[in-house]
Amino acid sequence: MPEAVEKVTLQLTVNGKLHSLSVEPRVLLVELLREILDLTGTHVGCDTTYCGACTVLMNGAAVKSCTMFAVQAEGAEVLTVEGLEKDGELHPIQKAFGDSYGLQCGYCTPGLMISTLQLLSKNRKPNEKEMRKAIAGNTCRCTGYQNIFKAIQLAAKNMNGA
Ligand code: FES
Ligand code: FES
Repeated sequence: MPEAVEKVTLQLTVNGKLHSLSVEPRVLLVELLREILDLTGTHVGCDTTYCGACTVLMNGAAVKSCTMFAVQAEGAEVLTVEGLEKDGELHPIQKAFGDSYGLQCGYCTPGLMISTLQLLSKNRKPNEKEMRKAIAGNTCRCTGYQNIFKAIQLAAKNMNGA
């Protein structure tokens, strides 16, 4: 019979809510989000740290949650795509992706919106080079990216109150 794996205690805040959990040390952050906290908006699209579908913000920085153990998020503030909407209102980035047709199948979209948030929280007037750099870790197999760039520009405009 396999030996039981000792669990470790973990505290982290996800989308503004504090969680105290007991997890196996091998659990990935994306597994914690999807399978334990039921936040399935964070996607898994590869097993090589390539696609970026699993991107979340940790303490304000975009991270690939498939590439971290959950215990590495001890004490952290994590934001997933579910945390963008407030009181039933979509975030300007969510609206912009919809309004610009910045998605097709939508599988990459949560990760792209999180990378967009990281960019626009520091730079509300990104040029094309800055936009390309910001989403370099996110792969979209459907759109050809042009409408994603339009969505980022529209989100920036909306967030600037234009
Ligand atoms: S699931 Fe592809 S980079 Fe994380
Ligand atoms: S919209 Fe399908 S992968 Fe990006």
